[in-house]
Amino acid sequence: MKALILSGGMGTRLRPFTCSIPKQLVPVANKPILVHCLENVRDIGVRDVAVVVGDRAEEVRAVVGDGSRHGLNVTYLPQEAPLGLAHCVAIAEDFLGDDDFVMYLGDNILAEGITEAARAFRADRSAARLLLTKVADPRAYGVAEVDPDGRVRALVEKPQQPRSDLAVIGVYFFTAAVHEAVKAIEPSARGELEITDAIQHLVRRGDRVVAEEYAGYWKDTGSPDDLLDCNRVLLDRITPRVRGRVDAASTVEGHVVVEAGAVVERSRLVGPLIVGEGSVVRDSELGPYTALGRDCVLEDAGIRDSIVLDGVTIQGVRGLSGSLIGRSAAVRTGEAAGRRLIIGDHTQAEVAA
Ligand code: TTP
Repeated sequence: MKALILSGGMGTRLRPFTCSIPKQLVPVANKPILVHCLENVRDIGVRDVAVVVGDRAEEVRAVVGDGSRHGLNVTYLPQEAPLGLAHCVAIAEDFLGDDDFVMYLGDNILAEGITEAARAFRADRSAARLLLTKVADPRAYGVAEVDPDGRVRALVEKPQQPRSDLAVIGVYFFTAAVHEAVKAIEPSARGELEITDAIQHLVRRGDRVVAEEYAGYWKDTGSPDDLLDCNRVLLDRITPRVRGRVDAASTVEGHVVVEAGAVVERSRLVGPLIVGEGSVVRDSELGPYTALGRDCVLEDAGIRDSIVLDGVTIQGVRGLSGSLIGRSAAVRTGEAAGRRLIIGDHTQAEVAA
C-alpha cells in the first residue's frame, strides 16, 4: 500500500499563520500537523508516500525532506492550483500505479492513528473505505448514507437536508479502481474535481464502498479554536521528560516536557505542557495545555491553553489564554500610556474591556 498526503491548498481560514507558514506545518503539541499525518501513515506499514504540494512547496520540503527522518520515502507532486481532492488523485496516478493507497488530508488530525481502518481495508479490499464521525451540523461536510452492514448507499457534499449525521473525515482508502472514477467525473460548480463525486461514481456503478465510524479523536484543523482543541488532546498524551534545566526554585506538576537546552527558573509549570528546545522561562506561570516552541523567552509571564511558535518573547504579561502566537512575535509591557499594537494583516487581538 502507498500513501497520498495532500499538503497544497490555501489555508485561508488560518490566517495570519498561513501567511508565513503553510497550514499543514502549524505545530500542534510542538509537531507540525503534517508530521502527525506522516507518523500515522508510517505506523500502518506504508513506506512510499507522495505529498501533493502547492505554492508553499519549499517550506514543506524543508520540514519533511526525503522522509527518511520519519522512516518513509517521500516524493513530491506539485499541483498548479487547488483544483480538488480528486485532482490530487489524478496527478498521482503514475506514482500510485495499480497499488492500493490511503489518501490523507494533510490538515486532519486523527489522534488514535489509522491502524484499525487499515487492517479492515487490507482484509476486504473494497474499492473505497471511508471513515466517518458524528457531527452536530452535517451541512458543512460530505455526508454518507450507510447500510447497517457498513456499505455506503450514497455520498452527498454539503447537503441542505442531510439524511444522516455521519460526516466523511479526511482519510480514505482506495484500490486502483478509483482512477477510472476520477476520469469519469467533471468539475463541480466550485470548479473542483470532488473526491465525493468520484466515490459516488464507484457507488453508482456497483463497486463496493464501505464506511466505518472512527472511534478516536478527529479534527479538521480549519480554525484557531480547532488547533487549540487538538493541542489539548495531543498534550494529554505526552510522555513527561526533562532534558533541559529546571532550577530548584521552580515547581513542576503533571506531565511536563522540557526539551534540551531549555532553562526554567523560579517558575511554576503545570502540565500537560511542552517547553521547546532552547527556550527560557523565568518568573513565569506556564500551563496547563501550553505548547511553547523553540527559542522563546518568557519573563514575568503567565500563559495557559495556548500554542506559541518559535522565537516568541513574552515579558511582563500574565493571564494569557486561548492564544496562538506566531513566530518571533513579541508580547510585552511598554512605554505607551495606553495599549500599543503592531500586528500584521488578519490578526486578532482581544483585551479585557
Ligand atoms: P481544504 O479543506 O479545502 O483546505 P484549504 O487549504 O483550501 O483551506 P481553507 O479552506 O482554510 O482555505 O483542503 C483539505 C486539505 O487538502 C488541505 O490540507 C489542503 C489540501 N488540498 C490540496 O492539496 N489540493 C487541493 O486541490 C485541495 C482542494 C486541497
